[in-house]
Amino acid sequence: MTTPQQPKVLYTKEEIAERVARLAQQISTDYQGKCPLLLGILKGSFVFMADLIRLLQIPVEIDFISLSSYGSAKVTSGKVKVVQELRFPIKGRDVLVIDDIVDTGLTLRFFMDYLRKKKPLSLKLCALFDKPSRRQTPISIDYLGFTVPDKFIVGYGIDYNEQYRYLPDLCVMED
Ligand code: IMP
Ligand code: MG
Repeated sequence: MTTPQQPKVLYTKEEIAERVARLAQQISTDYQGKCPLLLGILKGSFVFMADLIRLLQIPVEIDFISLSSYGSAKVTSGKVKVVQELRFPIKGRDVLVIDDIVDTGLTLRFFMDYLRKKKPLSLKLCALFDKPSRRQTPISIDYLGFTVPDKFIVGYGIDYNEQYRYLPDLCVMED
């Protein structure tokens, strides 16, 4: 029998909390006097979104969207489908997309272009983790938590085959 892979801590929950607080501060300053729509990409962003919004000092609205990518568990194919349409019109709104990790960038390339066509007043991106070494298409991240090495990460909402989302720290899978 093979032993299950053991995730190793890369960032502790305290380090993440500190970074999330700084992002919340930055976002609150930049959107002062506005009520942006925070649009989380499921499922990976749900823990981050929950922590982030409770530290904001501005009013916000929240929605989530499911995107399906046709690829294996560890790689994105670049063929992305919006599983469910947006529940609110975003025309004229300040939209801030919340994602867990930007890897090849193919998912966000598709989704940001899809949103831009709906004519939001502004459109920005906040991602907690970035793996720039893997990028296949340029993506500008307006609010970034951490840059991570080219390793498969799990925890803090992020999965490997639907496992490990519940880990409070950000971990890397051992090879
Ligand atoms: P991209 O299209 O390659 O940028 O990847 C998009 C999505 O793939 C991310 O939002 C994650 O949901 C998932 N993903 C990418 N890298 C990792 C990883 O290291 N661990 C877990 N999920 C990942
Ligand atoms: Mg994601």
